[in-house]
Amino acid sequence: MAPASEGHPEQAPGAPSTPRPGAGRYGEALFRPEQPGEGDRIDHAALVYDPFTRQRLRSLGVGPGWRCLEAGAGTGTIARWLAEEAGANEVVALDRDTSRLEPLAGPRLRVHTADLTRIADEPDLGTFDLVHARFVLMHLPERRALVSRLAERLNPGGFLVLSDAVDVPDPADPHSAYRQTLNAMWRTLAQTIGTDIAAVRAHPHALRAAGLSGVAAELVCPPLTPGTSLTAFWSETWRRMRPDLLIAGGLEPAALDEALAYLDSAGLAELGPGMLTAWGHRPGRSARRGA
Ligand SMILES: C[S@@+](CC[C@H](N)C(=O)[O-])C[C@H]1O[C@@H](n2cnc3c(N)ncnc32)[C@H](O)[C@@H]1O
Repeated sequence: MAPASEGHPEQAPGAPSTPRPGAGRYGEALFRPEQPGEGDRIDHAALVYDPFTRQRLRSLGVGPGWRCLEAGAGTGTIARWLAEEAGANEVVALDRDTSRLEPLAGPRLRVHTADLTRIADEPDLGTFDLVHARFVLMHLPERRALVSRLAERLNPGGFLVLSDAVDVPDPADPHSAYRQTLNAMWRTLAQTIGTDIAAVRAHPHALRAAGLSGVAAELVCPPLTPGTSLTAFWSETWRRMRPDLLIAGGLEPAALDEALAYLDSAGLAELGPGMLTAWGHRPGRSARRGA
């Protein structure tokens, strides 16, 4: 396991230097951006979830006149869609690693390299009509405080939209290699970088606690079937995490091999982990909507 990042905002002064569980960071202890294929792995998931995200953002009214923050923008598929197709006035694509975003920069798409957990130190970013973060907050132990900080960045009437993973295990199948591998993955993510998918179901409550109105949530679970982008995403994720799954996750190598073979098999049929999206808006009427 890679060491914890230095100067972590939640690290107590004088804390021992040995990493505590969950003290590593996304992009350091796991999913390092310079690893070959990491962009493709993110794109496999984006291909599956982008249509749902676009539909939700469209239904919230995103379009000309909007200023948007895409937080943890990854490879920029949604940032680019907001700028080029939805017609937003300005999109700020923020990520701790912007190597895959730089080629997308243009008059309406600004690329910003920053640690989201330190967004309070970025007053020049301004305020937004949409703040969107997908598959990011689940990986950040500061998620609850971040919901408030992101809500503070909204213009009156502006929307905060959060999407993260939710697992829907089959209670009748606690022991299959597939289930053992998923359980080991969540355990490993929790222990190494502090990912918490149980907390995702609290997103609506966090949005309300941050003072937002019109809070709502929905869950989509695209089918996990042979030869799909979703299957490629999980297969690539598990291959990438192999040493961590075996050591931190306590998974038997044979179980991981069996689960990977199952993902590659014609018989694959699972309700895989899905995406919960929760949203709410800052009270007040937006000038953008002509009120
Ligand atoms: C799983 S990817 C999701 C990418 C994109 N949102 C999507 O759904 O396609 C998580 C992204 O969050 C970024 N990220 C993780 N921790 C971050 C932090 N503390 N500050 C800024 N970005 C971060 C990663 O670099 C990565 O691009």
